[in-house]
Amino acid sequence: MKLCMIGTGYVGLVSGVCFSDLGNDVVCVDKDTKKIELLKKGNIPIYEPGLTELVTKNYKNGRLKFSNDLKKSVRDSDIIFICVGTPTKKNGSSADLSQVYNVIKEITTSINKYKIIITKSTVPVTTGDVIEKLLFKKNKKKTFSVVSNPEFLREGEAIRDFSYPDRIVIGSNDKKSNRILRSLYAPLLSKGAQYLNTSRRAAELIKYASNAFLATKITFINELANLCEKLNINVEDISIGMGLDKRIGGRFLRAGPAYGGSCFPKDTKAITSTAKKHKINLSVIKTVIKSNKHRSNILLDRVYEILGKKIKGKKISFLGVTFKANTDDMRDSSSLKMIPILSKKGAIVNYFDPTGFKTELSKIKNVRYLDSIKKTVEGSDLVIIHTEWNDFKSINFKNLVKRKKFSIFDMRNICSPIKIRAQGFKYYSIGR
Ligand code: UDX
Repeated sequence: MKLCMIGTGYVGLVSGVCFSDLGNDVVCVDKDTKKIELLKKGNIPIYEPGLTELVTKNYKNGRLKFSNDLKKSVRDSDIIFICVGTPTKKNGSSADLSQVYNVIKEITTSINKYKIIITKSTVPVTTGDVIEKLLFKKNKKKTFSVVSNPEFLREGEAIRDFSYPDRIVIGSNDKKSNRILRSLYAPLLSKGAQYLNTSRRAAELIKYASNAFLATKITFINELANLCEKLNINVEDISIGMGLDKRIGGRFLRAGPAYGGSCFPKDTKAITSTAKKHKINLSVIKTVIKSNKHRSNILLDRVYEILGKKIKGKKISFLGVTFKANTDDMRDSSSLKMIPILSKKGAIVNYFDPTGFKTELSKIKNVRYLDSIKKTVEGSDLVIIHTEWNDFKSINFKNLVKRKKFSIFDMRNICSPIKIRAQGFKYYSIGR
């Protein structure tokens, strides 16, 4: 089939290249001409394991194309995926849909034959209804279907999540588009993915509800970790004990710092904002947002305790600053909350991240990027393992640096407390 992906970020580029790898003809469109030129040269602007190889392979075999001519690309395609950003509005909580509606304006005069217009970006419930009305204004013969097909891709695992989804959700109110999309996704369905056809609004809400529930699971175990620390219980035992109940499931029960990323913070705010418009109070999700926001203060209090309440002049090293491992994404990373506060209190902060220097941290006083774990840890009073990169899982702190007077605060529970303490270090972690 002929597909057009509008937007070449995590969702558009990954979905586009994976669709091309399934044998479809795909054109990925972006208004950023520089980005399109880079993509044509095989330079991938996002850090996603395995993506470069897949793009190179499918660009070479001609199934994957890049363009900044949106109208032509839409005219030449049968299925149009809208994959542009829907960030949280500045000083608000609802989603900013300006990019979506700008795209719709361009599509509306390019419907030269039947098309399926799909929102793959996460959009508030009823957005599909608005899009349908906007398109209908200039296309009275209604030669199109508007469908919601939310993505469930995790950064760092996006290709795997596309290729082996638990479910394909198609929010479509008509049989024709439903039949065509079931055939588009047939290769994934034959590998075991479940196909779920719902109303368009239900599909839009499934996305928000899923992310909000995952954020709730994480916040739940993070708060239980606080209790475990008081009761000298290992929170990992609780996660396993709970997770063995098939009604609960063991995933997304790893206690850590506040959750971050480009989705959970945005989507939890957006769903509560939608509910508020309809005078419904999603109190559980609002509590999750509040609890997660407070979590960085709880972890900072632990840092102050570990350093004996004396922060000024202390050398603190961060191993990892991205919001999770296997991504270079800093959006809403808990390090962006903790490091500025430590700097304000007079700490000297060095950080190392496998994805390199971060502009988001470049303007903060006494914060420095160092290009190796050893250099970062040298002379520290406290080493904080902030992100669960594999690079940090088997560090031998004993042989790493000469001065061994530092403590270790493992915010991801990736080290063995027994092993580290046996090496003579003071070791702290989460819920253990
Ligand atoms: C998420 C959803 O998982 C994905 O389905 C959706 O399409 C986009 O949003 P992503 O934000 O890329 O994906 O990362 P994810 O792996 O979900 O982690 C989100 C945050 O939760 C990270 O800060 C991560 O560190 C944290 N997390 C995750 C935990 O603290 N504990 C866990 O057990 C899992």
